[in-house]
This record gives sequence, C-alpha cells and structure tokens, in this order.
Amino acid sequence: MAMFKFFSLLLLALSLFHYTVSGENLLHTCSQSGNYTTNNDPYETNLKELFSYLINEAPTNGFTMASKGEGENRTQGLALCRGDLSPTDCKNCVVNASSDILTFCPYNKGAMIMQENCTLRYSNQDFFGETLNNDMLCMKSSENVNMGEPNISILLSQRIQDFLSKVTEEAVLNPRMYASGKSEIDDFHTAYGLAQCSRDLSRLACKECLTQSVAFFAHPDCGKGQVGVKVYSEICRLRYESKPFVNDKPIPLPPTSYDAISPQPQPVASSHCLDAAAVLVVMGLLSQLLSHHF
Ligand SMILES: *[C@@H]1O[C@H](CO)[C@@H](O)[C@H](O)[C@H]1NC(C)=O
Ligand SMILES: *[C@@H]1O[C@H](CO)[C@@H](O)[C@H](O)[C@H]1NC(C)=O
Ligand SMILES: *[C@@H]1O[C@H](CO)[C@@H](O)[C@H](O)[C@H]1NC(C)=O
Ligand SMILES: *[C@@H]1O[C@H](CO)[C@@H](O)[C@H](O)[C@H]1NC(C)=O
Ligand SMILES: *[C@@H]1O[C@H](CO)[C@@H](O)[C@H](O)[C@H]1NC(C)=O
Repeated sequence: MAMFKFFSLLLLALSLFHYTVSGENLLHTCSQSGNYTTNNDPYETNLKELFSYLINEAPTNGFTMASKGEGENRTQGLALCRGDLSPTDCKNCVVNASSDILTFCPYNKGAMIMQENCTLRYSNQDFFGETLNNDMLCMKSSENVNMGEPNISILLSQRIQDFLSKVTEEAVLNPRMYASGKSEIDDFHTAYGLAQCSRDLSRLACKECLTQSVAFFAHPDCGKGQVGVKVYSEICRLRYESKPFVNDKPIPLPPTSYDAISPQPQPVASSHCLDAAAVLVVMGLLSQLLSHHF
C-alpha cells in the first residue's frame, strides 16, 4: 500500500516538474514567480549584478548568498559549490550555471540549477533557509551490484547506512556544513561518503534534510544495494560510492560498531532504480511519506 502510494505520488511529482538532464546539468526548475521584460528591466540589471557577485565570491569559501535591488526590482540568490572543489572548479561551475540558467529559464524571476559541481538559485521571493518543496534526486552509479549473498547485502546496506549517518552528523556540526569520510565496512568493502548542506540552512534543517537523504538512500527504489548513489536536492547532498571520489582528504571517522540485524525478506535491487543518466525526482511530500514508512 505504501509503495503504491509512493509510486502514484512519484508520477504526480514527475508530471508537475519541469526538469531536464543533460551533461553537467542534473536538474533545473523555473519558478512561476513572475517574468521580467527585455527592455532594460531593472530586475535584469540586478540579476546580472547578482550573478557576477556570486561568481566572484562563491569560490572563496564555496558558498555565497546575496541580494540586489529594492522592492519589485529586488533579486536574491545563492551559489553553493561541492565542498571538495578547488576555487577554480567552483568558479567555473558558477559561471557555467549562471549562464545556462538564463538559457533554460529566460526572463524568469526565479530559478534553480543543480550541477554536479554546484547549485545556483535566485528568486524575487525570500527563500534563504527555506526547506519547502525540497525535491530529491536519486541517481545510482552505472555499475551493477554484486554485494554477495542476500543476507550479507542486508547487513552491508545497514552498515553503509550507519556510516552515511555518521558522515551526515559530521556535516551538520562542521561550520562549512560539509563532510566526507571513508569506512572499512568489512574485509572486502570500503565505503566512501560525502554529505553537504546549503549554508543558508539552520543546523536543524540541515540535519533533517540529510536524514531524509539517508532514508532515501536506504530505500529499495533509490540506493539500497547499490555500489554508488547520489541523493541530491537544492539544499543538501548525500553521496555514497564504493570507490574514492572525493578530492580532499577525507575526515577520518571512527569505525562504526554494528549489531547484527535480523534478516528479513528484502526486495532485491529494484528495476525502478535508474541508471547513471536517468534521474528520479521525488517531491518533498514523499520524504514525509517515507519518513513514516521507515
Ligand atoms: C512567464 O512567461 C512564460 C513564458 O513566456 C509564461 O508561460 C508564464 O505564464 C509567464 N509567467 C508569468 C507569471 O507571467
Ligand atoms: C524599480 O525600478 C524602476 C525603474 O528603475 C523604478 O522606477 C522603481 O521605483 C523601482 N522600484 C523600487 C521599489 O525601487
Ligand atoms: C556548461 O557546461 C555544459 C557541460 O559541460 C556545456 O554543455 C554548456 O555549453 C556550458 N554552458 C556554457 C554557457 O558554457
Ligand atoms: C567538476 O569538478 C571536478 C573536480 O571534482 C573537475 O575535475 C571537473 O572538471 C569539474 N567539472 C566541470 C564541468 O568543470
Ligand atoms: C539467510 O536468511 C534466510 C532467511 O531469511 C535463512 O534461512 C538463511 O539461513 C540465511 N543464510 C545465512 C547464510 O545466514
């Protein structure tokens, strides 16, 4: 029943969203909060100024939020780079994102673009710190799973989930709201993880977002049993791989202790899981549903 609801809501989510997947651009949404015009609209001037500010400032510490203009001409925005990027890679991403977003959402007074290396958002409406409509994107690595016996897979999944929870805890406490880590989950498997929040969020909101991401990770239709999974949203990101992928030195995490879990009948890695090129957009509503479900 819960699964049925899950899928019917999922279809609803897909039909409500304008999204594309092309190369570096994982997702974009154009808001319905109004349009500006072509003839020297002060909104456009402010937006261009905002973008150049974000391009110049975001590389310094990986995150910037700002606003330009007053009243109806006011625009506010933020740029967030993946926590392990060099300033150069960060800047390249914000330059590219701010250009592509204008192509994807011409004359929109608000939009969001999510790329592998950064996220850029702007709007004529306040959104800093807001967590509504937090649509999550689940992408699995293209490699097939071979986690061995089903029972081992359950145990491994649980250990990976525990590990990811630890990484998210680190991220919540870190002033940059970012953490990466590595853990030997058994003699044959090493887990690598990255967790990050947009720094306009409160710690509580960050924690909630990443906790939901871990729940998504654990869901059979997203990450369960996968060798690599990204659960990304506008406001937080969680990534797990079985190979190193982070550019910085991982923060060493204490080894997790595990209780043996009782094996339960488990669906195997589901055909609903999407391949590297495909994405699954899940509405915030669904996360609520899932959190009850878990
Ligand atoms: C903005 O422009 C788009 C495309 O031209 C149009 O579909 C949309 O209704 C407009 N939105 C508003 C709020 O005017
Ligand atoms: C918005 O910009 C227009 C044109 O520059 C100006 O006439 C108007 O007063 C501005 N609105 C506000 C609230 O500043
Ligand atoms: C941004 O990067 C993508 C992928 O690398 C590329 O296809 C696109 O043309 C770039 N956009 C701009 C404006 O350079
Ligand atoms: C994204 O960042 C990585 C470093 O993690 C870099 O190698 C890659 O070229 C960047 N992608 C783009 C499109 O700049
Ligand atoms: C795997 O789980 C099944 C039932 O869940 C159990 O009957 C079986 O003994 C388990 N196998 C191992 C190797 O633990």
